[in-house]
Amino acid sequence: MSILVTGGLGYIGSHTVVELINHNFEVVIVDDLSNSEKFILNNIEEITGKRPIFYPFDLKRKELLSQVFEAHIISGCIHFAASKAVGESMIKPLDYYENNLFSLINVLQEFRKRDISNFIFSSSCTVYGQADKMPIDENTPLKEAESSYGKTKQMGEDILKDFSRAYQKRVSLLRYFNPIGAHPTALLGELPSGIPNNLVPYVTQTAAGIREKLSIWGDDYPTEDGTAVRDYIYVVDLAKAHVAALKKLINSEEQKVLDIYNLGTGKGSSVLEVVKAFELANNIKVPYQICPRREGDITVAYANADKAEKELGWKSETSLEEALRTTWEWQKYLKEKSQ
Ligand code: UD1
Repeated sequence: MSILVTGGLGYIGSHTVVELINHNFEVVIVDDLSNSEKFILNNIEEITGKRPIFYPFDLKRKELLSQVFEAHIISGCIHFAASKAVGESMIKPLDYYENNLFSLINVLQEFRKRDISNFIFSSSCTVYGQADKMPIDENTPLKEAESSYGKTKQMGEDILKDFSRAYQKRVSLLRYFNPIGAHPTALLGELPSGIPNNLVPYVTQTAAGIREKLSIWGDDYPTEDGTAVRDYIYVVDLAKAHVAALKKLINSEEQKVLDIYNLGTGKGSSVLEVVKAFELANNIKVPYQICPRREGDITVAYANADKAEKELGWKSETSLEEALRTTWEWQKYLKEKSQ
């Protein structure tokens, strides 16, 4: 059974490709390499012993996409391909809408034309905004997203709800909390592009001496230690959830399914807790300074992931320390590679 994985050389995509291969799926990757590197394909092969089929092009190129569907019998898709830099999305909103929505619609048109079902969408907890109560379950009302990036995720979900309803398709919307960590082989991980915005890549690069000091954005939040709280989920655990969600769609007897799952650990950790856990896991100091709050940040977000456990038999298994240890191993691998 061939599964199309768009953005399959990216951070979460590549980890998911490995899990799919481990579960005997044939994988066809389309990735335009805009935020990923070709060597990841070799590394996937090194981990799994199988080289997935790979097409390097932008999903906005409909003719090329059609040819992929002509060449392979595609039975489902996990759609990761999207631009994801929150700050950049505020400066270039049209590029974000064009890239994230046209790519999605082009794949869905192929599904409609060829009568294919089983579609998994890479969504985000960002669709909830600052939720009124914690933990966040799937019935929590969505608020207007803070960023254009967040809006593309909300719109993507809406498009898929209509797609599932009107064409009787099986769809799963996976709302990730904060993915972190790298593959235990240290052959896959998050690739730095410029100065990291996200906490864990910044912590890692500071420990490696690439950045001088971590700025902690605010210690006056109404939380235990004053720093903001998030739910950090290990990327391999997250990848496994995709396989579970896909299998559920494939095995469903219903023609039309609309699944929505929060994927998190269910536990909130503060910025300071993450820094301490990183130091403990890797026996290395992370210099930091306290700075004013970052605009647009929310105080706290963590998941209630009970639905995924009940319906997918999936739950997060890896501790924060272990996830942060893999991140550091990946950083060391990147350093060796660049020498
Ligand atoms: C961000 C995005 C979110 C996206 C997610 C992907 C924003 C507003 N939201 O979430 O849409 O889905 O990444 O993982 O950008 N922090 C520091 N110093 C740093 C970096 C971060 O103190 O150098 C703090 C932040 O203030 C925040 C926490 O660490 O409290 C986590 O930040 P980050 O990793 O950027 O994730 P989110 O903001 O939760």
